[in-house]
Amino acid sequence: MAESMKIDVQAHGPVEGGEFVVFVGENLKPTPAVAKRIGAKTVDLIAKAGDLEKFKGKARSALVLTAPAWLAVDRLIVIGVAEDKKTPIDWAQLGGFVAGKLSGKAATIVLDVPGADVTPEAAAEVALGARLRKYSFDHYKTKKDDKTPGTARLTLSVADPTAVKKALKAAEAVAEGVVIARDLVNEPPNVLSPEEFASRADALRKVGVEVEILDEKAMRKLGMRALLGVSQGSVREARLAIMRWNGGKSTDKPIAFIGKGVVFDSGGISIKPGAGMEDMKGDMAGAACVVGLMHALASRKAKANVVGAIGLVENMPGGNAQRPGDIVTTMSGQTIEIINTDAEGRLVLADVLWYVQDRFKPKFMIDLATLTGAILVALGQEFAGLFSNDEELSQRLTAAGQATGERVWRMPLAAEFDKMIDSKFADMKNSSGRHAGSSTAAALLQRFVNNVPWAHLDIAGVAMGSPQTETNKGWASGWGVRVLDRLVKDHYEA
Ligand code: BES
Ligand code: MN
Ligand code: ZN
Repeated sequence: MAESMKIDVQAHGPVEGGEFVVFVGENLKPTPAVAKRIGAKTVDLIAKAGDLEKFKGKARSALVLTAPAWLAVDRLIVIGVAEDKKTPIDWAQLGGFVAGKLSGKAATIVLDVPGADVTPEAAAEVALGARLRKYSFDHYKTKKDDKTPGTARLTLSVADPTAVKKALKAAEAVAEGVVIARDLVNEPPNVLSPEEFASRADALRKVGVEVEILDEKAMRKLGMRALLGVSQGSVREARLAIMRWNGGKSTDKPIAFIGKGVVFDSGGISIKPGAGMEDMKGDMAGAACVVGLMHALASRKAKANVVGAIGLVENMPGGNAQRPGDIVTTMSGQTIEIINTDAEGRLVLADVLWYVQDRFKPKFMIDLATLTGAILVALGQEFAGLFSNDEELSQRLTAAGQATGERVWRMPLAAEFDKMIDSKFADMKNSSGRHAGSSTAAALLQRFVNNVPWAHLDIAGVAMGSPQTETNKGWASGWGVRVLDRLVKDHYEA
């Protein structure tokens, strides 16, 4: 639940009010225009105070001058932006860093930055970063000890307010989408049942998304025995939520995003060790991303036809739970031998991928899933694993990842990995041991993808327990909303 923060945009004007943020390079000088606004006396003070405080204007450093007598501000916050020349400024991270320095009721950020061109998009990214930095999940704390920095009112002082306002609207839609995804991932599993998750998806109606919810009866009719097999040990019923945003031409094929939504993954009969099992409340991060993304795209009225589909189940042991040795028939007709009931995500996705390609004939499909622990071994928490049958889609995803900081790294699909999941008793088995664990999981998914460009993002490492950044101090990152929004924006809008 993010604190509220109102963001305004105005043209560069006089220095007044609350906290005032300016940027300097390694010479501790702001741009000439900013120098003129704050005055020579202030520029001298920054140089002198900077020297005393060993502030060298380096990126991610700040100097705070409290109540300088001749300026109508409470605090003048000087932010360094002297970067390594090879790395361009990450505007969202910069916005997050700035927000971390704020503590008053109102703040103005003067987006006139030495050595950098602050485009309207860059300005909007600063706002997005500030908003995400202010996020905290304290819904279940009865004593609020709100130490979250930030401000209630943020003003961006810019050269071209009209263009920035427009970009800001889109960025706010994306920020809301990230917040929705984070909230869902942070939410405890007793609260977030498949049914409750589906009703959160249903709430997207208010931004113009069409939503359909299929219950178990409807899924049984469709033959989704793989998805239902995962769910059968739980007393809480499975759901499949389908979200549609039609912002494109009616003749345009949709693009599709599919999410793994295991609201809790105990492992089932192949039960997981107890230590850290609470983290498996986050095993629905793929689905959470899809909901957040649909919110973002609809709220900013993206000119594209988009389908989101999320398979919502709970993986529990129980008298009726699926067993190792069971064989299930998927919606596609292919059969899967269950070797390990903890390899459940691929079973859910097998049916949802098939359903989406069959019903919607999408231009491409991208699935997101906290699928394997092995991807954490390979890539840690910095990159999501990307598996794809399509060069162009892979390149576009990689570029969008670079641009947003939600990075992906291509991993192999290969006939040899596919062979590893052949089963003695069925068409395939759901687990084949430790070797190439992420690739064999992807190989199973690929058996449910026909002739359509497809990418699978294994987000087990990046979605939860995330490293602290300037835009995320919490557990859930909301990973994927930004990179996929960017992918759509850059390539799939009319
Ligand atoms: N949800 C887990 C993967 C996971 C691990 C997500 C750590 C986030 C953090 C998945 O369902 C799982 O249990 N995978 C098994 C597969 C194995 C049984 C073939 C794994 O990775 O160990
Ligand atoms: Mn599992
Ligand atoms: Zn899982």
